[in-house]
Parts: sequence; structure tokens; C-alpha cells
Amino acid sequence: MTATITSIAHYLPPDVYPNSYFEKYLDTSDEWIKARTGISERRFIKDGATSDMIIPAAKQCLERRGFKPEDIDCIIVATVTPDHMFPATACVVQNKLGATNAWGFDLSAACSGFLFALVTAASLVESGTVKNVLLCGADKMSSILNFEDRAQAVLFGDGAGVVLLEKSKDKEYGIIDHILHIDGAGGPYLHQVAGGSYKPASIDTVTNKEHYIYQDGQAVFKAAVVGMADVSLEIMQKNKLESEDVAWLVPHQANLRIIAATANRMGLDKDKVMINIDRYGNTTAGTIPICLSEWLDMGKLHKGDRLVLSSFGAGFTWGAIYLRWGMNK
Ligand code: COA
Repeated sequence: MTATITSIAHYLPPDVYPNSYFEKYLDTSDEWIKARTGISERRFIKDGATSDMIIPAAKQCLERRGFKPEDIDCIIVATVTPDHMFPATACVVQNKLGATNAWGFDLSAACSGFLFALVTAASLVESGTVKNVLLCGADKMSSILNFEDRAQAVLFGDGAGVVLLEKSKDKEYGIIDHILHIDGAGGPYLHQVAGGSYKPASIDTVTNKEHYIYQDGQAVFKAAVVGMADVSLEIMQKNKLESEDVAWLVPHQANLRIIAATANRMGLDKDKVMINIDRYGNTTAGTIPICLSEWLDMGKLHKGDRLVLSSFGAGFTWGAIYLRWGMNK
């Protein structure tokens, strides 16, 4: 038995921040940002939390499937920017939607959050533990960005993608295979120092800006280029997939150069790679479901397409999923 995505939707805040927004007050340029990252603009939510981006996407996702909120069995929210440290954002979403029959939880795996949550959700569905999972990948990165640091402020954006996962009627379609990894030795290169139990929030942590993202960009870049490319090739080889068999690579959108290196390793042309980093930057757990939802909306994703989803993020966390797309627009 396989689990498959039966509905999908996404939400992006309306307010667009082009590279020129940062040029006004940081020592940076549109040219540098585009050349080094591939990003032209991103969206930041002005008012509201991560759950406020999930709700419109979740409502549309349910509507498209003809589901009522009470039909949901389980809600998983992949995020590193939950509304609160606790309760889980899954509880906030459950309450706002009125999903009275659901249980659920949050999952923290940074930029790999959607992939880790998709494998978790698929296991729950495949084992018969639940009939369906509303899986939300969402982050309000603007809530932890140091807007005075040019090396990180320009990289991220806010957004949400939501999928409904159910048992596949035809086992040919759905989540077929996965390879997932974590390596905590990578933690020091990309993390949020304070605000957790290790270093609770204090006047000092705020003054020292320790509640923002800390990133050693070059170290993360080097690990991501190797990690994402290796695992993507490995899942192809494990499933005897040639490059012509793959309809789309759906990569986490952190840096266009990391995406290009991954596609190159898989022997894929650029026209088989979902890329929207130019418009949204890195929305962390949101990137992959937002890509899938946009491509389906554009009519570029078809039933039977073989997809490789791949990601790399803080932790370090990384992995790839091979799935056969099972729905039409
Ligand atoms: N505008 C202009 N210059 C910038 C800049 C910006 N926005 N950000 C950094 N720079 C500068 C640096 O200060 C550095 O200057 P220096 O040489 O005078 O010290 C120079 O550009 C080169 O920095 P470097 O870090 O080598 O650049 P890079 O080519 O590695 O690109 C990143 C920087 C952050 C774009 C890149 O390292 C990256 O994408 N890393 C991975 C990020 C990522 O994937 N994070 C999320 C994990 S999923």
C-alpha cells in the first residue's frame, strides 16, 4: 500500500520585497544577490504568524478535495518558526480550522521539514493508523531574520504549502521510496542560539541578537552541494531511474547554485527542475510544497510523473523522496 498526495494548495503573503529593498540600507546589490543566490524578490508577511499563512492554504487544499475540517484525522506542521514554542502550531491550526476529529504535532527539521514530515505522514497512512494527514510546510522566516546582516537577510522569505495525504487507490502512485539523514555535527553552522532551554531568552540574548539565525554560509553551502546532490543521485540509482525517467526534480530552494549542482549530478536539464527561488527566496519548510502546488496550478505536473524531491537544511538534515504523482489538476 502506498500513500499519495490527493490535494495541494499554497499561500504566499502579498507583500513583495525586491532586492532593491535591501540596497537602500545594506551594503549589497541586486547584482550580487542574483548572481550568488538566484533570488530577485521574496515575500514577507506583515501581520500574522506561521499559522496565518497555513490556514488559507489548508482551506483551499480541503476545498479542492471536497473535505470538511472534521474529515481530517491528523495534522502535521513542519516548521522552525512555530507560532509559539508551545503549544504546537498543529494545535493552533486544528483550532482555527475547526478540525474537531484531528490529532497532530509539529516536526522540526528546518529546510528538510517537509520531506521528513511527508515520510512520517506516509507511514501513518500506510500503517492504517490514520486515514489522512493534512501536512503543512510553512515558515515565517522574517520572524528570525537579522535584517541588519546582509549575508542572511536577503536569502529567506515567508510562505506555506499544504498537502492532503491519503491511501493510494492504485499502488503505482504515491510515495515510493526515501533516503533521509541527520548529522548533528552540522548544528553549529546553522542554528538559532537562544530562546530554547539551552539559552533561554534574556535581555542579553536579545541585545546580542542571538534569537536570530546564525549561519556560516560557506560551510553550509559546501555541505549542501555535496549532500543534496549525492542523496538525489543515490535515490535514482536505488530505484533504477535514468535521467529521462525523471519528470521533475523538486529541490529545496536555498540557492540556485546548489540546485544547479544537484540537477547536474542527476543528469537533468534545467527545464526538468522546479525553480521559484527567484520569486520567493528560501521559505524553509515551505519551498517544496509551494513548488508542487504552483506547478500543478500551471498545468505542468501530470498524473504518472516521476518526481525526485530533495532537500538540505539545518541540523544538518537532508534527504530525497521518490514519488509518482497521482493526481491531475
Ligand atoms: N551582498 C553583498 N555581499 C555579500 C552579501 C550580500 N548580501 N552577503 C555576503 N556578502 C559578502 C561576504 O561578506 C563576503 O565578503 P568578504 O569576502 O569581504 O568577507 C563575500 O560576499 C563572499 O562571501 P561568501 O560567504 O563566500 O559568499 P558565497 O558565494 O558563499 O555566498 C551565501 C554566500 C550565503 C549566498 C552562500 O554561502 C549560501 O548560499 N550558503 C548556503 C545557504 C543555505 O543554503 N542556507 C540554508 C540552508 S538550507
